Amino acid sequence: MKALILAGGKGTRLRPLTFSIAKQLVPVANKPVIEYGIHAILEAGIKDFGIIVLEPDSEIERALGDGSRFGAKFTYIPQPNPLGLAHAVKTAHPYLGDDDFIMYLGDNLIKSSIAELVGEFQQHRPAATILLTAVPNPQDFGVAQMQDGKVLHLDEKPKEPKSNLALVGVYLFDKGIHDSIAKLQPSARGEYEITDAIQSLIDDGLTVRSHIVTGWWKDTGTVEAMLDANRLILEDVETKNDAVCEGKSKIEGRVCIGKGTRIINSTVRGPAIIGENCTIEDAFVGPFTSIDSGTKLVRSEIEHSIVLADCSISDVPDRIEGSLIGRGVSVQRSDTRPRSVRLVLGDSSSVVLT
Ligand code: TTP
Repeated sequence: MKALILAGGKGTRLRPLTFSIAKQLVPVANKPVIEYGIHAILEAGIKDFGIIVLEPDSEIERALGDGSRFGAKFTYIPQPNPLGLAHAVKTAHPYLGDDDFIMYLGDNLIKSSIAELVGEFQQHRPAATILLTAVPNPQDFGVAQMQDGKVLHLDEKPKEPKSNLALVGVYLFDKGIHDSIAKLQPSARGEYEITDAIQSLIDDGLTVRSHIVTGWWKDTGTVEAMLDANRLILEDVETKNDAVCEGKSKIEGRVCIGKGTRIINSTVRGPAIIGENCTIEDAFVGPFTSIDSGTKLVRSEIEHSIVLADCSISDVPDRIEGSLIGRGVSVQRSDTRPRSVRLVLGDSSSVVLT
């Protein structure tokens, strides 16, 4: 069995971050989102990966390499026009050939193991296996209508959902999916929908198995979802403190801190993660915060946030919370008059002042 990870797409909902970094590389608990999926698939014993990317020599390819770092083989498949999940599968057909494959959306995080699913697929040999989970906002997802434990109908982002069971971004297929995709027409939103391709398998009388996901699942496509995913991953963070703690510093709860980081007269309250070579001085790092390597936090407080590498945050008067801060960002306070807010923000940035 092969794996197909979808890491193309435009990531419009995560702008401005996605102007300069692919959303699948945004770190959650200091690890790129896509690596969680890679590890879950490796755990299921699959080592041959096709990775859909927007363009040749993409930053995803530069970040992940040829797979040897993971003990796997990565083949990158450019999809310059992200015309939908089914279009991504079509683009990957020459790589997939007639092999069974697991398709994994590169911006999704799933807590439960997928090894069992792969085993079940190989034993029962359905045309497809889909994963479902109950959500409060099914109209934002592909939705499954079930009858007697069987998938009856799938709808992509229906205005009036027939159930609260959303499709999770992990699917298993045999080669039959390629015939269904070949027959597809674009949907009302102009995309080739994988839900339509699976519906066509059902209409042709083929077996589509479903699985209800018991652990949590997150699509990290928005800032809120990214912060939520960060919170869920940090719930399980393991304590490891390689920092040098100086002065009246306190490390409380489960905290992971990398080498070369200095904690000076500061409190870090877990669950939290701080990367390597950071400086945390006269500061407070609160629960559910991830701070990536090389960042300085001085005379400031932060919680429930993600800060990427090489930022400099100092003298911020109010506690920073619910924030996602990109690489190399500087947030400072100045005492010069007149008192004003000075902003240098990229396109589609968002600032909330209270
Ligand atoms: P989406 O989040 O549905 O799409 P998107 O990445 O374009 O984001 P936005 O809606 O914010 O503009 O995509 C889910 C995953 O699938 C994500 O990792 C990107 C990937 N993808 C492809 O590889 N090819 C595609 O054609 C599409 C639509 C998505």
